[in-house]
Amino acid sequence: MPLNLILMGPPGAGKGTQASRLAARLRVPAISTGEMLREEVKRGSVLGREAKGAMDRGALVPDALIVAIIEARLQREDCARGFILDGFPRTVTQAEALDRALQRFGWSLHRVGSLNVPSDEVVRRLSGRRTCRDCGAPYHVELEPPRRDDTCDACGGALLQRDDDHESVIAARLEVYARDTAPLLDYYRDRGLLAEIDGRGKHDDVLAALLARLNLQTSGPTLAAS
Ligand code: AP5
Repeated sequence: MPLNLILMGPPGAGKGTQASRLAARLRVPAISTGEMLREEVKRGSVLGREAKGAMDRGALVPDALIVAIIEARLQREDCARGFILDGFPRTVTQAEALDRALQRFGWSLHRVGSLNVPSDEVVRRLSGRRTCRDCGAPYHVELEPPRRDDTCDACGGALLQRDDDHESVIAARLEVYARDTAPLLDYYRDRGLLAEIDGRGKHDDVLAALLARLNLQTSGPTLAAS
């Protein structure tokens, strides 16, 4: 049975950071709807143009649009062993659509991890975040600064701030999370799938807590669900 996981949490909780670490350990793809949408915006596609306004305001793009993207993505070959969803679902409508899609594919969810981080820490993390335009390497102006201002240590590319990482938009994203996405915690808790994890602390410590709470045990060089 494929190992299908969801990572939830407010903006800046560390979903992307931990999804890529988990993906490397579990050898399944990390699928970030935010990343997929940003790629579309960068390419200037119709989808990207439709999504950009909502993203820049910190609002959600329409459910139908994001559900179609995810359904297509889950049918790609690399999901045959499982996947880690980062940033999807974000509404009860999306969660119900995911349930129906999984049922059609004959799959089920293994666990849902939710990273808890208080709002003041979210604002600190996101307002200081910078990303290399060319290679995507992540930085933080205080916590992980580059050696030279606004320049990537790895490739020399310019470091950019995400349009939605300005403080007024972060506040809007937090409101949207509380209103539209937090109700999903009960949705998955009621199904016995939810594991809540403190998202503060060192990356490796958060990863270890996630592995333990998601019932993923190390067995030799790879991991197995227990
Ligand atoms: P998306 O890209 O998913 O944004 P988000 O959920 O707000 O998440 P972030 O990427 O900002 O944060 P994260 O939790 O992944 O944390 P990260 O690891 O990056 O979505 C963007 C937009 O797209 C949405 O607003 C919406 O418009 C649209 N969208 C996407 N999905 C959608 C959907 N399903 N439906 C409708 N619309 C959708 O870490 C953040 C920072 O913290 C980094 O600088 C990192 O280095 C740092 N950090 C991480 N862990 C730690 C730690 N333990 N200690 C200190 N710093 C840490």
